[in-house]
Amino acid sequence: MTSREQWSAVDDYLVETAIRPDAASDRTRAATHKAGLPPIEVPAGQGKLMGLIAELAGARSVLEFGTLGGYSTQWFAAAVGSGGTVTTLEYEPRHAEVARANLDAAGLGDRVQIRVGAALDTVRELIDSGAGPFDVVFIDADKANNANYLDAALKLSRPGTVIIGDNVVRGGRVLDDSGTGADAADVAGIRAYLQRQGDDPRLDGTALQTVSGKGWDGFALAIVRDVEPGVTGAE
Ligand code: SAH
Ligand code: DHB
Ligand code: MG
Repeated sequence: MTSREQWSAVDDYLVETAIRPDAASDRTRAATHKAGLPPIEVPAGQGKLMGLIAELAGARSVLEFGTLGGYSTQWFAAAVGSGGTVTTLEYEPRHAEVARANLDAAGLGDRVQIRVGAALDTVRELIDSGAGPFDVVFIDADKANNANYLDAALKLSRPGTVIIGDNVVRGGRVLDDSGTGADAADVAGIRAYLQRQGDDPRLDGTALQTVSGKGWDGFALAIVRDVEPGVTGAE
């Protein structure tokens, strides 16, 4: 067995034993693949973790960059409860259509607003219309824009908002700062995001490596702090 096959087999075991994703989320994953969308949604364990984080944070509103077929969206929609909302930004109309059908079939469509267009534009519209603050933000669209999405997320945040960024390791390619790889723009966006998370005094976070059937990757998680260190003497 290759490492990847082992990671996948262990993931399957964890899903069967401890994770037990609900049947509706499995249906959304399967329908997304059947519709021919790329199979790049978060692993079940990560989807469930993000739902738990939203629940632990008492989240009522979630903002997501990158919907695909609505798999991660659905975990958040379940977590925010019947009075909650998920706003998710997607460039591809076809992806939005598949996600809409999946979320409606899961009975969660009412709490999800899908905004179709380039996320830099749709998030600008959210900011200009006075939307937010959101309780949780998940950044998982085109990685080249990750640092820009983080900036926008901060404009839609309050102290205590949780910001999660997906795919921050990319099989180790995050270390390649040569600017020449096949996904150089994505890697540059991921590196800028991680640097910004560490540098910005409004953010306090971590980043973890993961392995799964999708390979070796990782995610970053940060909380928005209410005070800048040194300003109030609180540090
Ligand atoms: N969050 C999803 C996976 C998202 S995959 C899940 O885990 O289930 C990344 C998505 O971002 C794709 O659907 C892709 O079409 C979308 N995307 C790519 N570029 C974008 C852009 N500029 N604006 C908004 N969405 C974009
Ligand atoms: C890929 C994986 C992701 O989780 C994502 O959001 C985008 C792309 C990928 O493996 O290419
Ligand atoms: Mg992702």
